[in-house]
Amino acid sequence: MCGIVGVTGAVGAAGVVYKRLKLLEYRGYDSAGIASMLDGRFYICKRRGRVYSIGGDIKRLHGDTAIGHTRWATHGAPSDANAHPHIAGRFALVHNGIIENYAALKEKYFSGVEFASQTDSEVVVRLLDLFYEGDALAAVAKTVSLLVGSYALVIMCADFDGLIVTKKANPAIIGYGDGASYCASDAPALAGLCSEITVLGDGDIAALTAGRVEFYDGNLHVICREKIANPAVSTELDLHGCPHYMLKEIREVPSSIIRTCDAYTCASDGLSDYLNGVERIIIVGCGTAYNSGLVGKRYFEAFAGIPTEVETAGEFRYKQPIINGRTAVIAISQSGETADTVEAAKLVKGLGGKVIAVTNSPYSELTRIADAVVPVEAGQEICVAATKSYTGQITALYMLSLTLAGMDTQTGAKKLYETAELAKGIIERTDIGAFADTCARSDGVYFLGRDLDYAVATEGSLKLKEISYVPSEGYPAGELKHGTLALIDIRTASVVIITDPALAPKSENAVEQILSRRGKVLVVTNVKDTLQRTEGKADVLEIPVCDKYLSPLLSAVVVQLLAYKTALLLGRDPDKPRNLAKSVTVE
Ligand code: AGP
Repeated sequence: MCGIVGVTGAVGAAGVVYKRLKLLEYRGYDSAGIASMLDGRFYICKRRGRVYSIGGDIKRLHGDTAIGHTRWATHGAPSDANAHPHIAGRFALVHNGIIENYAALKEKYFSGVEFASQTDSEVVVRLLDLFYEGDALAAVAKTVSLLVGSYALVIMCADFDGLIVTKKANPAIIGYGDGASYCASDAPALAGLCSEITVLGDGDIAALTAGRVEFYDGNLHVICREKIANPAVSTELDLHGCPHYMLKEIREVPSSIIRTCDAYTCASDGLSDYLNGVERIIIVGCGTAYNSGLVGKRYFEAFAGIPTEVETAGEFRYKQPIINGRTAVIAISQSGETADTVEAAKLVKGLGGKVIAVTNSPYSELTRIADAVVPVEAGQEICVAATKSYTGQITALYMLSLTLAGMDTQTGAKKLYETAELAKGIIERTDIGAFADTCARSDGVYFLGRDLDYAVATEGSLKLKEISYVPSEGYPAGELKHGTLALIDIRTASVVIITDPALAPKSENAVEQILSRRGKVLVVTNVKDTLQRTEGKADVLEIPVCDKYLSPLLSAVVVQLLAYKTALLLGRDPDKPRNLAKSVTVE
């Protein structure tokens, strides 16, 4: 969703920005650009493509102040002209977000003026220059007062020896280090560089000079903002010998389960107050977070007996939800930044409901809004495809459901530890690649299951389509005969997950129906009878027997590895799938 970074007071500022920009590429990789400033003059390079494409230009970007941008295109196609930074007169800027009223502003202030790009961002830099009367901060305050939408902006003014940063609804942090001041979209971009950071609030304006930062509100009154320790650790950004972050992060699934479980044990104390008297739960999230919510629903209903609905956050926002004081809304988000989820949480608060955030990002917008936070301790997830955060979310939901049910969380933690150990064994297996070859050659791949297995099927399908671009669908096994069976032929593959002995014969019916239409089938199972009955007929992948409710933590690893291996066979970059970005901070 665009990554932005800036530094002032550092020798070779453009080189510093270049290095940090690479750490933000998961936010978008349609184009990249850097501008530096020396003695009031701007130097710029920007280009369609990934950050490395501008590496050769860094040496001609002089000065100790620079800003950089890696783009996920929203307004205007990926192109050199639409790449940031944008410059107008005495200002240069980078922008993350969407200016919803850009067309109206353009019409009002720049009628007849030809813009250099099709971006919404260009209107902002032109407004800064238009309103500038010798005071850069005043120009910023006036400009942002006119903006509708979301933004994190890093601004250079030729007459101001530093940077100005401001934000609304999109993240921006300030970093402190060795005589220089930094800013970025998020903390990991400054890992190893700044041990202390400040998380900007909406409407804050920060003026950064070498080694000094001042904060203002929208009326340019000085305000205080606290410094916190930078939670991001630079070693988390190493690939640890893995060819891709996706594989590294799948390998971290067991530690994600264990760390989330431990964190819950420490953080759960205050939760009972928020859960007291809850009679209905609504889970909201997008993509993978929504899919983990499907697993959570089963936990809340099975253990606590509380009726639970799961909604995609984007739909929930516009349905006039019925919320009262006895409804708890659980908002799940790895990043804590996803616009639809954050807005859904705000809506609930506005309606007087309680919001519990389940998130991997402790300093995110979502945690600020929520009444209570259940931490996911997956560690920094860089691959656009969520893996270890999914299993972390399931872990957090499992523990939360035990608390709600008044059940023993220590016994639950023990089961989670055992399951994490079993997951390690699956990660090391090499036989998952065999069916990846079938998936890579197929016109479509269908993921089926019943109950909890269906929930994992939805995630398996999302994972496969998002990184391999093979069309895929996840659906309940019982639905096969109600339509999808028409798609099955020799050119399709199906992955049938079977982990519940009670439902196994039913799901095996689906296997038979697919085989009789000559479709290829992989059965992922830990049910002994299913193994015996399907072996020799279909490809079978045996996973360890575990607690029935925790089987998603094991089958998830299988479908994640299957997607990863399929993507590699098709020559895709699993870490940076086309058209996608990690944090979707626009609607
Ligand atoms: C997962 O592989 C996807 N990239 C995507 O669906 C993601 O889960 C979704 O955008 C939600 O993100 P969040 O958890 O940060 O809110």
